[in-house]
Amino acid sequence: MLSLAASSQQHTLAQMFAADAKRASTMTMQANVGAQSLLVDVSKQNISSEILSALLDVVREAGVEQRRDAMFSGAIVNNTEQQPALHVALRSKAASDVSAAVASERKKMTEFANGVRNGTICGATGKTFTHVVNVGIGGSDLGPRLVWEALSPVVKADLQCRFVSNIDPLGVQQALQGLDAERTLVVMCSKTFSTSETLANSRAIAAWLESALGADAVAQHCAVVAVDAQKARAQNISFAHSFAMWQWVGGRYSVSSAVNLCNVVAFRPEVHDQMLDGMRAIDEHFVSAPLQQNIPMVLGAIGVWNRSVLGRATHALISYSDALASFAPYVQQLEMESNGKRVRTDGTPVSVETAPVIWGGVGTNSQHAYMQLLHQGTSVIPVDFIGFAKVLEQGSEEHDALIANMLAQSQALAFGRTADGAGDALSDHRAMPGNRPSTTIIASQLSAATLGALIALYEHSTFVQGCIWDINSFDQWGVEHGKQLAATVAADIAEGTASASHDSSTKSLLDWYLKHR
Ligand code: F6P
Repeated sequence: MLSLAASSQQHTLAQMFAADAKRASTMTMQANVGAQSLLVDVSKQNISSEILSALLDVVREAGVEQRRDAMFSGAIVNNTEQQPALHVALRSKAASDVSAAVASERKKMTEFANGVRNGTICGATGKTFTHVVNVGIGGSDLGPRLVWEALSPVVKADLQCRFVSNIDPLGVQQALQGLDAERTLVVMCSKTFSTSETLANSRAIAAWLESALGADAVAQHCAVVAVDAQKARAQNISFAHSFAMWQWVGGRYSVSSAVNLCNVVAFRPEVHDQMLDGMRAIDEHFVSAPLQQNIPMVLGAIGVWNRSVLGRATHALISYSDALASFAPYVQQLEMESNGKRVRTDGTPVSVETAPVIWGGVGTNSQHAYMQLLHQGTSVIPVDFIGFAKVLEQGSEEHDALIANMLAQSQALAFGRTADGAGDALSDHRAMPGNRPSTTIIASQLSAATLGALIALYEHSTFVQGCIWDINSFDQWGVEHGKQLAATVAADIAEGTASASHDSSTKSLLDWYLKHR
């Protein structure tokens, strides 16, 4: 793979497009998502057709197809936790060892959601629920939050969702602002049910319910989503409803599980099913499409090319749709917690750079914030532009302008602008180097199905990259130590003194905090 680096710099994008009139068509892939579709154009990436072919050889040599099949079959692919990674089973129609449990939980979720929506499941005072507050963090927040924000503009919601994730009291205060406790359902989402933020926030909201409705009423307003709901009971959390998730679904891969319960209730179960249908369409594409036309395989290979060969340290996701404002944060956890690793599956150090820093936001706001650096800065930053041909039923000049800007940004990055002629005092300042890479992903319409397809696309692209790097994309040992240190610091704060065992920086910061809080 590294030997390819030499050939990578030979031609610019302008030269490659000039030399091959078919470049755009040969480097554009399509996937059908039910009656809708997804178009992915990688022709503005810094790769020649020879390099793309060589990258797909790397995919073959890394055994990515075999590892994919192993993951889909339920084999132990998370070797450090000895677990499968079977998030695809949550939307598969194939029979498997887990399909009965998955189907049973989906049926239970559907019945619960319909009960809440028709009022047969209601609050302690007999009133129907109007709001659902999802309490969770990481994958227990980012997934449901993304779904809620992405679909609210285009799917009718009969209840309103709110989200509490951080341990900051402002979060609970904001989420409960103006809510009627009698009409509020709380979903406490935590795979492990040992996450301190979610426990603290669950207790705070339970206390709010108790103060309004009395202790005996709290359980009727609470649902728990966890691997073991008894852990919630052991934490003195009252709940009348519980839904299972499983050890073999990673938190950052869990949006197709009961973690999405708030949206199943708010939008209706059929919308959740449509999202799963879209995810399954990409799963089937990932399993069956030939490598050259296999979108997750190509996106993953290009991700490794940009990161490990061209040394591009960050990767921007810019969605030209306000509906996807939470997409970059979602993929941030998905990719950085999956592939932010420095050792291989066997524990030996990796020999190349792994996961890039994922960041991004929404266009055209990006053009008034950070696109200057991407066009004329010293760093080359690959961009994924994401948009929809149709969002609202009625097209509009504004939507046309949104997409025009997205396509223009990709064009400007790729082809730049030469200095405006010699002698112009500003020509050097105005020159744009171009030859800067981007991928453009356009879905035919914003819908539950295409949202599911986009999510599955990045789930599998993340997996492909992890396979090429031979790292375990499904554990996250790096997040444990900080939590343990936080407990020690918190104990000092509770004591009111900074123990001498801390380093001098932490100790002086603690002293200052204790003095000023
Ligand atoms: O960040 C660590 C992590 O374990 C994530 O992988 C997970 O999504 C998040 O914390 C929340 O975990 P839980 O759902 O168990 O509360």
